[in-house]
Amino acid sequence: MKYRIAPSLLSADFARLGEEVRNVIAAGADIIHFDVMDNHYVPNLTVGPLVCQAIKPYATVPIDVHLMVQPVDALVGEFAKAGATYISFHPEASRHVDRTIALIRECGCKPGLALNPATPLDCLDWALEQIDLVLLMSVNPGFGGQAFIPHTLDKLRQARARIDAAQQRTGREILLEVDGGVKADNIAAIAKAGADTFVAGSAVFSGGDYVKTIGALRSQLSGKSF
Ligand code: DX5
Ligand code: ZN
Repeated sequence: MKYRIAPSLLSADFARLGEEVRNVIAAGADIIHFDVMDNHYVPNLTVGPLVCQAIKPYATVPIDVHLMVQPVDALVGEFAKAGATYISFHPEASRHVDRTIALIRECGCKPGLALNPATPLDCLDWALEQIDLVLLMSVNPGFGGQAFIPHTLDKLRQARARIDAAQQRTGREILLEVDGGVKADNIAAIAKAGADTFVAGSAVFSGGDYVKTIGALRSQLSGKSF
């Protein structure tokens, strides 16, 4: 299993974003997680495509845009132009989920579905084979620094089984990403439950020494076969 660490810029220093991106990549980040909040779908307001475009020259790894916005479609093309690799959205925020997935693909990006803690996995039934990423929220979206919701572990196990079956059918890779409250003291249990990609905001950025904070997460994963 290849594990990927995806620092969330939500906890970075917004006055020095380019430098923050460069530093976390130098410290071992595999993906940059970019949280977009609109003060409508979630009660917080962050950044848009202009900021994504501004950090793009620093991002030598994929940018994983997590759209917490409603409506979704108008922003898809903007983020594709701004350099997104993955674009994930919440199915509740789009009237036509299959159309939004197709739009992300047409724009040259990899589509993902983001599932809130109370959103059932059934919403993957007719979408899983069209997407490249399942983003399971382990907190309610809107803020960094919240505690990991324990029932996410059961949900991860069930999502893993669905993804393994879909990958066998299609031969295509689908990432299983967990987002919210990931720390060095729970990442091993989260990996054991089936996640392969780990968003970490406060765990990476609140420490200051990113080699140390990313290293602490990765050391919990290395050498383990779950
Ligand atoms: C929450 C965001 C997360 C957040 C995670 O709505 O989607 O990506 O930044 O932050 P931590 O790792 O601090 O829970
Ligand atoms: Zn996120």
